[in-house]
Amino acid sequence: MTISDKLISHHCRSGEFVNIQIPNLDNILWRRPFSVHRINPKEETFDILFSIVGRGTQALSELKAGNQIDILGPLGNHFEIPDNAEQIIIVAGGLGIAPFMLFLQKLGKRPSRLLFYGVASKNQFCLLDEFKEFQPDLYLCTDDGSQGHKGYVTDALEKYLNIHSGKNRYLYACGPTPMLKTLQTICIKHRINAWVSVENVMACGFGACMGCPVPLKNPVSENKKYVLACKDGPVFSLNEISIDARAFD
Ligand SMILES: Cc1cc2nc3c(=O)[nH]c(=O)nc-3n(C[C@H](O)[C@H](O)[C@H](O)COP(=O)(O)OP(=O)(O)OC[C@H]3O[C@@H](n4cnc5c(N)ncnc54)[C@H](O)[C@@H]3O)c2cc1C
Ligand code: FES
Repeated sequence: MTISDKLISHHCRSGEFVNIQIPNLDNILWRRPFSVHRINPKEETFDILFSIVGRGTQALSELKAGNQIDILGPLGNHFEIPDNAEQIIIVAGGLGIAPFMLFLQKLGKRPSRLLFYGVASKNQFCLLDEFKEFQPDLYLCTDDGSQGHKGYVTDALEKYLNIHSGKNRYLYACGPTPMLKTLQTICIKHRINAWVSVENVMACGFGACMGCPVPLKNPVSENKKYVLACKDGPVFSLNEISIDARAFD
């Protein structure tokens, strides 16, 4: 969905998200969060990429060109890229691909980049041609083997890392909780610094309701066991947080 907004189209950083008030549904109280997928500063628009999973996304999909929507954003923190980065590894599962178009837009020509992108079946790949324009080394994976590597995206990544060593490489990921959990193990084993964008359920989107806790892996104290996905994240160092299915699903 393409949305006109001057501020977001010019200033949004990759990883940031918008919280959208669902129009035409009186009984939906909370906004729904979506990553900013790409920006078009010339046209002063930005895109979100979503699938229909419930009432909110169904209502969004029924909007017509020219309708107005109420958006809060850009919200949250963003992906940082260390100055010494020589290789960027992106790992996306399903709709977890959403924030990485803007990420690649902002990356420009430096450093080399790999994109590991996994879905259940080939008809779920989104915008492959557009992604190819940013010239990543593309590793496509499908659970059913209908295109690319048959199996999980984390298997393809592990296979790659077992063969190719490298220094100053950093990994960025977004996707389902089991994928993030496996990535934690892989990144420890291969000593790779990684950041993930978490997509747990949210409400206010700006730190007021305490409705989006993410458990810390090593709590600082009894009083500081959690961080907030909306305010402290959604991007976290993979080392910092505990990937707990109860918190994300
Ligand atoms: C920071 C952030 C960025 C996100 N970016 C995107 C994006 O770019 N594209 C996209 O399609 N979705 C994204 N999501 C997930 C999106 O917010 C949910 O899919 C949406 O809120 C569902 O609303 P709904 O009313 O249609 O579904 P609901 O009726 O609220 O729920 C329907 C089903 O979806 C599940 N669900 C609800 N929220 C989530 C969630 N956050 N993650 C996974 N499952 C959920 C519910 O458990 C339920 O089974 C993001 C979430 C966060 C926190
Ligand atoms: S959604 Fe309200 S504090 Fe995070």
